[in-house]
Amino acid sequence: MAASEQPRVVLGVAGGIAAYKAVELLRRLSERGLDVTVVPTRAALQFVGAPTWAALSGKPVADDVWSQVHEVPHVRLGQTADLVVVAPATADLLARAAHGLADDLLTNVLLTARCPVVLAPAMHTEMWEHPATQANVALLRKRGVLVVEPAVGRLTGADSGKGRLPEPAELVEVCVRVLAGARGPESEQDLAGRRVVISAGGTREHLDPVRFLGNRSSGKQGYALARAALRRGAQVVLVTSAALPDPPGVSVRRVTSALELRDVVLAESKGADVVVMAAAVADYRPVERLATKRKKTQNLTVELVQNPDVLADLVAARGVDPAAAGQVLVGFAAETGDEDGSVLDHAKDKLARKGCDLLVVNEVGEAGHPTGFEGDDNAVTVLSRTGEVLEVPLTTKDAVADVVLDLVSRWPSRLPRTP
Ligand code: CTP
Repeated sequence: MAASEQPRVVLGVAGGIAAYKAVELLRRLSERGLDVTVVPTRAALQFVGAPTWAALSGKPVADDVWSQVHEVPHVRLGQTADLVVVAPATADLLARAAHGLADDLLTNVLLTARCPVVLAPAMHTEMWEHPATQANVALLRKRGVLVVEPAVGRLTGADSGKGRLPEPAELVEVCVRVLAGARGPESEQDLAGRRVVISAGGTREHLDPVRFLGNRSSGKQGYALARAALRRGAQVVLVTSAALPDPPGVSVRRVTSALELRDVVLAESKGADVVVMAAAVADYRPVERLATKRKKTQNLTVELVQNPDVLADLVAARGVDPAAAGQVLVGFAAETGDEDGSVLDHAKDKLARKGCDLLVVNEVGEAGHPTGFEGDDNAVTVLSRTGEVLEVPLTTKDAVADVVLDLVSRWPSRLPRTP
């Protein structure tokens, strides 16, 4: 694409009721200055007719390869696109894309596209969860296609569940980020085909149905890592106890306590290429969780028991489970210096004790301090098991995320990517 030209986007629309939302997506993509060509499937035209697409995009609309044959649209559209996004992508479209069929214009575009491809599935929960659909999604993701996780909510008719098309406003952000990534300095999809599991937020250890022991972690750094890993092509699972909205395109597993977080992280980490433990996991939980609210007494002593160390479990699993061989393990540590040593001294000890590959350390300040917990900025030092020390001065949590993923991406134990 010449620098002065608008980025070219092909908006594929498959035949599902959510096709009506693609009208809004088209409008929003155009408003961002993108040159959008709509390629509906024949079934999509049952939901929204060609005149709507033609009027809003200002271009002719075809669903087969027999219109304007002299322009060879089945090859040209894919070859010249900067991004292909299909929303909604039905179960049928995912299957045809996964298996390389080319029986209409949209599947021809998908086969000829050399640019990033974003598929936003929408269908009933049963169809999404069917092993055939899941296998197709896994295959597409392995090839580097960004398959956005469907939203949970109201479906056609009275049903509700997982399978809703994410809101057009969110999909536009995914498209813009992918376009920026594909053409900017971070163009490399260096995590394409990789499975990355990230934990985020502070765990809550309940004393009773109302009260819990918690910590100041907001989860923002973990979410920044999830967004960055997604942009770099990874399939991302975010295990979170944070009160932040789900990042579009990321598979989000919500947890509350350290024990829940441990179970989900260990299960999701099987076969993962990278696990980043950005969560502030509580070291202790109350021995007893009351089923009813505790009444006030004069003095209260709460007995605590130690929680399992999830990172240590991951390190141990990597040593024995062939599926975890070569997994890159990243720990986080919020430290303060004290009479026994500086922040860096404590961090070096922790890295050795934990046995992970990288440890991202931040010095903890008081509330209002620009780094660490609640803010959007962070300053960290990253230590590697092989002795490197990298200082990252105060910057955004998004930038810190990219520095950490740069190190992960270059980490030598990474196994070659399965073709
Ligand atoms: N971590 C974990 N499980 C725990 C506690 C911590 O997996 N029960 C992980 C955190 O997610 C983080 C790293 O271990 O990536 C370091 O956490 P931190 O609380 O700093 O370490 P601790 O081992 O608890 O050491 P400390 O004595 O400093 O609290």
